[in-house]
Amino acid sequence: REYGRFGPLVGAIDEGTTNARFLVFAASTSEVLTYHQVPIKRFSPQEGWVEQDALELYKSILECIEVTIDNLRKLDINPGDIVSIGITNQRETIIVWNSLTGQPLYSAIVWLDTRTSKVVDELIKKYGVPWANSVEQVSGLPLSTYFSSVKLKWLLQNVPAVKDAVVAGECLAGTVDSWLIWNLTGGCHGGAHVTDVTNASRTQLMSLQSLQWDNRLLKYFDIPIQILPKIKSSSEIYGYIATGSLTGVPIAGCLGDQQAALLGQNCLRFGQGKCTYGTGCFLLFNTGDSIVHSKNGLLTTVAFKLGPEVPPVYALEGSIATAGDALQWLRDGLEIIDDIKDTELILPDGDNDGDICFVPAFTGLYSPQWQKDARGKATKREHFVRAALESICQHVRATVDALAVDCIPLKQLLVDGGIAQNSTLMQMQADLIGIPVIRPLMTESTALGAAMAAGRALGVWPPATPAPPADVFLPSLMDDEREIRCKQWEKALDRCMGWSS
Ligand code: G3P
Repeated sequence: REYGRFGPLVGAIDEGTTNARFLVFAASTSEVLTYHQVPIKRFSPQEGWVEQDALELYKSILECIEVTIDNLRKLDINPGDIVSIGITNQRETIIVWNSLTGQPLYSAIVWLDTRTSKVVDELIKKYGVPWANSVEQVSGLPLSTYFSSVKLKWLLQNVPAVKDAVVAGECLAGTVDSWLIWNLTGGCHGGAHVTDVTNASRTQLMSLQSLQWDNRLLKYFDIPIQILPKIKSSSEIYGYIATGSLTGVPIAGCLGDQQAALLGQNCLRFGQGKCTYGTGCFLLFNTGDSIVHSKNGLLTTVAFKLGPEVPPVYALEGSIATAGDALQWLRDGLEIIDDIKDTELILPDGDNDGDICFVPAFTGLYSPQWQKDARGKATKREHFVRAALESICQHVRATVDALAVDCIPLKQLLVDGGIAQNSTLMQMQADLIGIPVIRPLMTESTALGAAMAAGRALGVWPPATPAPPADVFLPSLMDDEREIRCKQWEKALDRCMGWSS
């Protein structure tokens, strides 16, 4: 068929923790032609609880699509040139809804939520540590409040509407991708209830080997299989959009946001890794066809599976719960900065760190310490800003170190995500990990990964793309200086780990 001046276009829905977005890419050049984004609200009805409105997530995406389509028309680009849509999303967040009415049965429980701390303790008490180890062996994930398994268990145990819907055979459950795909492809009128291997791998209910729901895990967490979506690859047609301006366009790509960024950064081969600095911070390292189990607190996960018949690629992951959120706390909690961008400029003179180490454990610590009840807060301006930036870099440094022990050392770190635009942060990162940090000028790696998967499924995405132009940050710290900084951080971390006991 004939296309306009940009050739075939691919849309990407990016439903993150902080923003919902829709972007349109030219498949031949990976160029973003236009996009629209809206912020997503978070609620905390009790300490440690983090919820979002599932309907808001869906409606925000519809709004973003319609505004973006309008933008295309204004740019004199034919929206009819969009051949497929990819979806990428915050992972682990769980939604349950009624299959007949389409209404959510509870708020979306967000990945950051720690209400399941007791569920985790009870499970370990009931089944024992060897059992927890075997869960990790099968799913790649340690027992933690982070993953969907315990969140779904909590919903099934505590929300009467969920229990009733299960008994009535009207309950569906899924991560954000499933919720969006079901709604976009028709909802109660025949919507597809599916997920992809990368999202499924974060529920802690899928076997990394079989890439299917695992009966042992379902039994342990007491999850009825009939409420779960069908697991598909990351690149195939899941269904067709049944609403709005994109009606009839296939949804053909789906990946959790961190895996999408790995793909978008072209980390297609063993040994390549990227780090995305967003609400949290996530370092993923491609381990090819090997399922590598970490001895140093990293997770094992599916990186992508680019087609139903294509073998899966696996990854090791360091998940850091707090990154952008630490800077947001400087703005909204301490009110010592007006804008997160100010953290690039408000810094003490020279190397003066004010003797402050900041351990941002607002929702417990994830990789590599996995301490669910660690908490810490501190107090004051330039030194605080510096300490907050360093806290993010130190967490990433610890993850890079763990990776070197578990697998092989990284030669360079590809970065992306909102706060990776802060050059001060990136220089500090290069200094602390002692390898170059590469930041592509094209910043939309997550959405690009989803678009690549969707474009490949329709055969419109070129098989290989050259490395894009990038900013390079070279390490400038001497080894002994680096060592002193890291030791100081580890000391602060130790204190924080002991804080709850
Ligand atoms: O695992 C949680 C992660 O997917 C959230 O990503 O970009 O919303 O911080 P982000």
